[in-house]
Amino acid sequence: MTSTFTPTRSETITVANQGIERLKPYQPGKPISELERELGIHDIVKLASNENPLGCSDKVKQAVIDQVAEIGRYPDGGGFILKDQIHKQFGFEHDQITLGNGSNDLLEIIARTFVSEQDSVIYSEHAFAVYALLTQAINAQAIEVPAKDFAHDLEAMAAAIQDNTKLIFIANPNNPTGTWFEEAEFVQFMQKVPAHVVVVLDEAYVEYFPENFNSLKFLAQYPNLIVSRTLSKCYGLAALRVGFALASVQITNYLNRIRQPFNVNHLAMVAAVAALQDQDFIEKSRQVNKAGMAQLQQGIEQLGLSYVPSRANFLLINIDADPAQTFNALLKQGVIVRPVGIDKHIRVSIGTEAENAKFLTALATVLGSKE
Ligand SMILES: Cc1ncc(COP(=O)(O)O)c(C=O)c1O
Repeated sequence: MTSTFTPTRSETITVANQGIERLKPYQPGKPISELERELGIHDIVKLASNENPLGCSDKVKQAVIDQVAEIGRYPDGGGFILKDQIHKQFGFEHDQITLGNGSNDLLEIIARTFVSEQDSVIYSEHAFAVYALLTQAINAQAIEVPAKDFAHDLEAMAAAIQDNTKLIFIANPNNPTGTWFEEAEFVQFMQKVPAHVVVVLDEAYVEYFPENFNSLKFLAQYPNLIVSRTLSKCYGLAALRVGFALASVQITNYLNRIRQPFNVNHLAMVAAVAALQDQDFIEKSRQVNKAGMAQLQQGIEQLGLSYVPSRANFLLINIDADPAQTFNALLKQGVIVRPVGIDKHIRVSIGTEAENAKFLTALATVLGSKE
């Protein structure tokens, strides 16, 4: 049926707000099934989104199966069972915890809570792409501070604070570089940040390296600090979308004012509880990551290439070639990696031993055939 509706006033065309008009959306990596269809090949190895190559714990699968009949009901908007598990594990009260539909949801809630159009937001060059997107969506001023050897320059970031700065995003370790900072550097930075500027410490990959310092102890000291965590990476729940933010009662109260009441679904919540309880799975994931990291580093060095040292589950590799062309050539070899907008570099997630080996062979083929 054709519509009989005809606009009568051409000037009624609406435009998005200024920030969104100019926004280039985040490009997620394509799912394996779609690429296999597009390219007509099978057994593609996806090392593009920093997922856990082991998938998730068997205990998580069982927890989801056990609760599948509950799909017809709304989830608990207060997230009691998950907050209780977080309380037991990390020692924070329920009124200091905000749950998110992935930590991405939390980053957005935080930006919307604290930043208006006339404010500025600070983040580093080569930081997680979403920080820039959120700032742009609000049409706020973005202050991107040049990175130092691919890493956050926390001293320069503190020095970049303006009167209108409301929010600073820092990631430890950072994506897509894998770089990290130590406790002393973080403390020096926090001491320079005025109390009215909110700092988001994004720890999406923190579980992979126990060497990373314990940031949670600083939450009592700095009421302007928010630590965000995700269940998408080491815990292996990327598809279910669960993250949590820990902060002062006051900040948590603000965040929960705009959080959608049912932003984390019931199956995600029961899965997250089971995932947090299964620390053996986390230990195994760490070991696989450590072994895979060593395997990739060795293979990359044998190819005469270099990488940025990483404390995450991925490596940023200097391929000394065009990232987009290399990405496409690797795709034809059945391996998906990620060009991340850094000249001559690609990011590769650490996979299983077999996946890493397939990537190294494909990379050798692709780079070798160029010469
Ligand atoms: C640094 C960082 N923060 C946050 C996220 C968001 O992850 P999720 O929304 O799955 O929790 C990612 C995902 O890649 C990330 O790399």
